[in-house]
Amino acid sequence: MKFFVDTANLEQIAEAKDLGILDGVTTNPSLMAKEGISGTDAQLAHYKAICDLVDGDVSAEVISTDFEGMVKEGIALSEIAPNIVVKVPMIKDGVKAISHFTSQGIKTNCTLVFSAGQAILAAKAGATYVSPFIGRIDDISWDGMNLIEEIAEIYAMQGFETEILAASIRSPKHIVSSARSGADVVTCPLSSILGLLKHPLTDIGLAKFLADHNKANS
Ligand code: G3P
Repeated sequence: MKFFVDTANLEQIAEAKDLGILDGVTTNPSLMAKEGISGTDAQLAHYKAICDLVDGDVSAEVISTDFEGMVKEGIALSEIAPNIVVKVPMIKDGVKAISHFTSQGIKTNCTLVFSAGQAILAAKAGATYVSPFIGRIDDISWDGMNLIEEIAEIYAMQGFETEILAASIRSPKHIVSSARSGADVVTCPLSSILGLLKHPLTDIGLAKFLADHNKANS
């Protein structure tokens, strides 16, 4: 399973990269706004800075909701760097745009996916990635992981090549469950990745090893 970090924060991306386990980055308009990036030139420059930092795929989302606008934006984004993935919302014109980008060899990430039916459409359009939003499904008392399992089963049965990118990940437990449920990629905040490190028995065990070593070597 690939690890993407879900942020537009350059320091956090660099920290995740430094761990040696980073396969890519996803961003969205909310994450860009959180970094105070506004205006087309600044946005394109920020995406370029992210692409220069990481070798793997970097998802950059279109703002337009009509086909022509999405195509125009997507082409501009794809010209930033070869590792740009154009992120497109799961709406009617979005499916059409993904289909168009696929025919042009431009990689896409179909975002805001909340059902297996939407995931089937994304795969039919040739999306490189499909992004089911796990946390937001859990937020309304449904089960996000069920959706990952359902999509994984359908894609395997139908031979779809679209990669399942578990998004809206809120905890280390979500990462583990995504891995068990058949996600190809997980995108999450750096804090959730770092949370995987934690276990009290590791801390206790390490403290004992060091104490024993110090006793024997004092
Ligand atoms: O990038 C899409 C997704 O990961 C957003 O997560 O936490 O805002 O639901 P969240």
